[in-house]
Amino acid sequence: MADDRLPVATYPETHTAPAAFARPCLDAALEESLMTEILVLYYSRKGSTAELARQVCRGIESIAGVTAKLRTVPPVSAENEGPAKPIPASGPPYATLEDLRQADGLILGSPTRFGNMAAPLKYFLDCTSSLWLSGALAGKPAGVFTSTQSMHGGQETTLLSMMMPLIHHGMYLVGIPYTERALNETRFGGSPYGASHVAGMQDDPVLADHEKTLAQALGRRVAALAERLRTP
Ligand SMILES: Cc1cc2nc3c(=O)[nH]c(=O)nc-3n(C[C@H](O)[C@H](O)[C@H](O)COP(=O)(O)O)c2cc1C
Repeated sequence: MADDRLPVATYPETHTAPAAFARPCLDAALEESLMTEILVLYYSRKGSTAELARQVCRGIESIAGVTAKLRTVPPVSAENEGPAKPIPASGPPYATLEDLRQADGLILGSPTRFGNMAAPLKYFLDCTSSLWLSGALAGKPAGVFTSTQSMHGGQETTLLSMMMPLIHHGMYLVGIPYTERALNETRFGGSPYGASHVAGMQDDPVLADHEKTLAQALGRRVAALAERLRTP
């Protein structure tokens, strides 16, 4: 399981199978192909969405047989829609369409931009029409998470904005039910539509306990459904 103290930049890219799942005779590649994989794909500029992504990964990896793959997207600008650099200076690698194709589930995260998802994530999604044409994501589970500066600054609209392309891709959307106690008790982020964080005017990326709990719950729920759908 991921270490809670690790900054997201050092979140391990390859993961060891839990002991109960380990088969000593299988080589690593075969072992990996037996694991259900959830892609956690996010954009973050100030670190809050990245922190949520890390907690989502922890929730995913609490489910036996499921592994998290953490990926980000490059920034875009009006002058240059492509990545400034082919690989990021730090943190997880940029996602590829192949990452999406291979994943058994997807959890998308973006900061709120005027009540909507941020352009870099939208731009990446706008480049997925080949996957849409082949139905590569259809029938896979998905969830969403976001961070805002203010409490009522558009978390739910941002979460819904990320859901729309996923619906077009035919994915099964997973939310967070009120059976999660933290959803009833939170005074900050967390919503039935997905995980979230209220960063405040100082853009503080430190998550409240309930925000962490709900981000992990989202990861667990998508992971558990992906595992069920994959296992005959
Ligand atoms: C162009 C722009 C638009 C934004 N729009 C909103 C908004 O509508 N509501 C809000 O609460 N915060 C808004 N913010 C603030 C970010 O959503 C917030 O700081 C978020 O926590 C940043 O996430 P990050 O740390 O992952 O980059 C906006 C920020 C920028 C740069």
